Amino acid sequence: MRASPLDDAAFLTAEAPEGVAPRFHGAAALDAPREEVVAATLWATAQGIYEATVDGMPVTESVLNPGWTSYEWRLAYQSFDVTATVRGGTGDLEVGLLLGNGWWRGRLGFGAANANYGEGIAVAAALEVEFRDGRRQRLTTSPEWRATASGITRNSLYKGQTVDARVHGDEPALAVRAVEIDHATLEPQAAPPILRHETLAPRRIWQSPSGRTLVDFGQNLVGWLRFTVRGRRGDVIRLRHAEVLEDGELGTRPLRHADATDELILSGGDDVFEPTFTFHGFRYVEVEGWPGELGPEDLEAVVVHSEMARTGHFRCSDELVNQLIENAIWSQRGNFLSVPTDCPQRDERLGWTGDIAAYAASASFPFDTSDFLDSWLRDLRLETEHAPDRAVPFVVPAVLKYADFPEGHLGEWSGPTAIWGDAAVWVPQALWHAYGDRERLAAHYPAMVLHLASIEPLISERGLWENGNQFGDWLDPDAPPEDPAAAKADPAVVATACLYRSASFAADAAKELGKDEDAARWRALAERTRAAFVRHYVQADGQIQSDCATVYALAIAFDVLEDEVRDRAADRLAALVRASGYRVTTGFAGTPFVTWALSETGHVEDAYRLLLERECPSWLYPVTMGATTVWERWDSMLPDGSINPGEMTSFNHYALGAVVDWIHQVVGGLRPASPGYGRVRVEPRPGPGIEWAETSLLTRGGPVTVAWRVSDGELTLEVGLPDGVPVDVVLPDGRVVEVAGGGHTFSARV
Ligand code: BGC
Repeated sequence: MRASPLDDAAFLTAEAPEGVAPRFHGAAALDAPREEVVAATLWATAQGIYEATVDGMPVTESVLNPGWTSYEWRLAYQSFDVTATVRGGTGDLEVGLLLGNGWWRGRLGFGAANANYGEGIAVAAALEVEFRDGRRQRLTTSPEWRATASGITRNSLYKGQTVDARVHGDEPALAVRAVEIDHATLEPQAAPPILRHETLAPRRIWQSPSGRTLVDFGQNLVGWLRFTVRGRRGDVIRLRHAEVLEDGELGTRPLRHADATDELILSGGDDVFEPTFTFHGFRYVEVEGWPGELGPEDLEAVVVHSEMARTGHFRCSDELVNQLIENAIWSQRGNFLSVPTDCPQRDERLGWTGDIAAYAASASFPFDTSDFLDSWLRDLRLETEHAPDRAVPFVVPAVLKYADFPEGHLGEWSGPTAIWGDAAVWVPQALWHAYGDRERLAAHYPAMVLHLASIEPLISERGLWENGNQFGDWLDPDAPPEDPAAAKADPAVVATACLYRSASFAADAAKELGKDEDAARWRALAERTRAAFVRHYVQADGQIQSDCATVYALAIAFDVLEDEVRDRAADRLAALVRASGYRVTTGFAGTPFVTWALSETGHVEDAYRLLLERECPSWLYPVTMGATTVWERWDSMLPDGSINPGEMTSFNHYALGAVVDWIHQVVGGLRPASPGYGRVRVEPRPGPGIEWAETSLLTRGGPVTVAWRVSDGELTLEVGLPDGVPVDVVLPDGRVVEVAGGGHTFSARV
């Protein structure tokens, strides 16, 4: 069994109704005077979420601890340096722990899922104080600790939080008991902490047609409201959150079962409200019961997400494209909250694997995602190892295994699946390209093996992945709102192309890791798959079965096709893209790759036209509709301003924003030439509609900047480089110039 600083700490639970957050309290006389304290550390974790205080002071700025991991094998504990607090305190040493439901007793999932890790929640902590003479004192949670009901009388991630400010802590004690947990699951937190970031002030406050008070924060964000208020004791302020308006009222239908409603019951004095045991995806809030008139200075929205360093920036001459980039950044921030989620607002917020498979490369440019996604990939590996079919689950953490779904519901949607299961390969692949960390590649490799091994028995005699369930080109804009899997692309064509990509990268990874036998196995699988794909799906004239943009995008971008067929397939793709009037025709599968497939085969102009199209469906259509995040559907909001009738309609889903990877690398022209940008390739590909672009990235080797401008057919390119990073500059006239360090300027005819 692993030793953890919490091994002698009991996990405490209290007899309280499910909504009530108990507050635990432990105290001890200090063994030596306060000034003798040289170090003090608090370790804590929970099956649930907790907030800790030492001597009445919060121990951290981070929230929603311990975050969400695959709790069955990894329950993260946090460690907080509380030396200053303990040295500066008076009287007995005191630890306070407030315990909420979080993801543990979260009733997570859509429809009737109600998935739960357990019916009880529990918290453990250990405070260790070290004195000048080397002695140590420990105060750890034990059944002797006291608990009372806090003022939090309702707390749920989906439904929201109620705080009764009349509760003071002198309420009758709750029964406390210790619960057994497997301490071997405890490990130090690997994921970055969840933090409050900026706050936003209301942009507008007004009365809706039905007379309700509405607030617009001007940005679809994830977090909660914060305010201080005074009113009549016992009165209730109620806050309902939503991403959009419909007919001038809050558009809550897309939230499905997530009430996203917070309440404050006033004490009669000054009440500070900040509901930190829930979170909401919202731009608008309906405020009911505010004492007096609500003004813009009365409340603020707090933006909450996992900590990630900002590394990449992009700007260009097209303001709509700049807004698209901003929207993608906001969607990433909102959905990188402990785990990479599909969406942050409705009764879902799950680690859907397909969404991050599509988006990982895009995500790893603006932000350093390495620690965040590494932690999630550890869960993916554990869940896959423990899955009955040893297939990558659709969501990680795989909480849906606890769902109350009617018999068969999950059965019908289970087993190895392209794109979703390919997260086991594509997410590590994106991290490898962005950061080049070999140790992590090695840690992620076993899940690649499991994924490919789970597909092998499904490969048909023809060598194709044509058996089993597929989500396919999910959310193809031509699929009916109620059937998002009904795409134009043949799901077996999509799956077989994805298998080729995954087997190819697994072969590269195995080779990199010195696993030659594995490399040969995956290379052979890739080659067999490629041959079968070409033989059964591709005609001599380059036409690919089901003849829609997605199948061409995948076959070309994944390098399934040989030169001549590839050119013909590329011409067919370009023809399809033109025939659709440059409206997008791809879903989750094709969207990240369609512009790549065009630009890498001599169709840069078509790629630009596709990017810059504004009519629905297109990347810029939501921007023209005032979107401030990436939408789940190409038309989450219809051109007439009404919400898409599909029950699955979020306004904050990053997956279809996956074109931003291409924007950074091809429009911006900043690409890794070797893993982790150890060698950089600067190759901007100017096209019609964009006159200039400025791109920068803080790589592991230092900052790289690329700025280009085209006027009168002449490209001026400025490159700024750190020392010691070799860079190949590829100019539109075909010249390749090797440079290193400092600033360099080039010009060329376009
Ligand atoms: C989620 C998607 C997810 C999909 C898979 C949806 O409900 O929001 O983003 O990948 O289900 O079926």
